[in-house]
Amino acid sequence: MSQTRLLALVGSLRAASINRRLAEAAVRTAPEGVDIAIYEGLSDIPFYNEDLDVEGAVPAAAQALRDAVGASDGLLIFTPEYNGTLPAVLKNAIDWASRPYGAGALKARPVAVVSASISSNAAKWSHGDAVKAFGVAGALVVDDASLNFGGIGQRFGETHPADDAEALTQLAATVHQLNEAAKAAANA
Ligand SMILES: Cc1cc2nc3c(=O)[nH]c(=O)nc-3n(C[C@H](O)[C@H](O)[C@H](O)COP(=O)(O)O)c2cc1C
Repeated sequence: MSQTRLLALVGSLRAASINRRLAEAAVRTAPEGVDIAIYEGLSDIPFYNEDLDVEGAVPAAAQALRDAVGASDGLLIFTPEYNGTLPAVLKNAIDWASRPYGAGALKARPVAVVSASISSNAAKWSHGDAVKAFGVAGALVVDDASLNFGGIGQRFGETHPADDAEALTQLAATVHQLNEAAKAAANA
C-alpha cells in the first residue's frame, strides 16, 4: 500500500463546529504517504430504513458513503456528545455503512475515535458509544488512536486547533496510530 487513504467523518454539522476544526487540524498533520479527506454529505443521507436498503436501489447519498468508506484504508471519527451519546447523524452513518450484514463497508476497517465537547467529561460517553457501535458493526477500533478533548468552548473558542501545538501533537499521534493499523490491516 503506497498511499494510505483516511476518511474523516464529523458528527457535528454546524459550520463553526469545533469537531470539524479538529478534523481540519488532523488533515494538516498527515505525514507523507497519508491522505486525509473530510467526508462531506452526511446530512444528505436519509435515516436508515431497511425498506430503502435494497440492492441496486440504495439512496445515492447512502451509497456514496458506503463507496467512500469502502475505498478508504481507515476512518477518523470526530464526535461531539449530544445528550450523553452519539449525534444521530453519526449513528446513521454507522448504520448505513454497517450493511449489508456481514459485508458492510465497515467490516474490518480500522477506526480511530476522537471525541470533543464543552464539558470536562470530553464527550467520553459519546466516545464509548462510538467504540461500541463501530465494534458491533465489525470495524477494528484502534484503542491506541483514541483521543478526547474537553472544555473545547474555552480552549478552541478563539483558537483554531491547527494553531494549538499540543492539539496538533495529539492529533498527529492519532493519525500515526491509525495509519499503522491501516497498513497492518492491508498486509493481513
Ligand atoms: C443537542 C445537544 C446536546 C448536547 N449534549 C451534550 C452532552 O451530553 N454532553 C456534553 O458534554 N455536551 C453536550 N452538548 C454541547 C456540545 O458539547 C457542544 O455544543 C459542542 O461544541 C458540540 O461540538 P461542535 O462544536 O463540534 O458542534 C450538547 C449540544 C447539543 C446541541
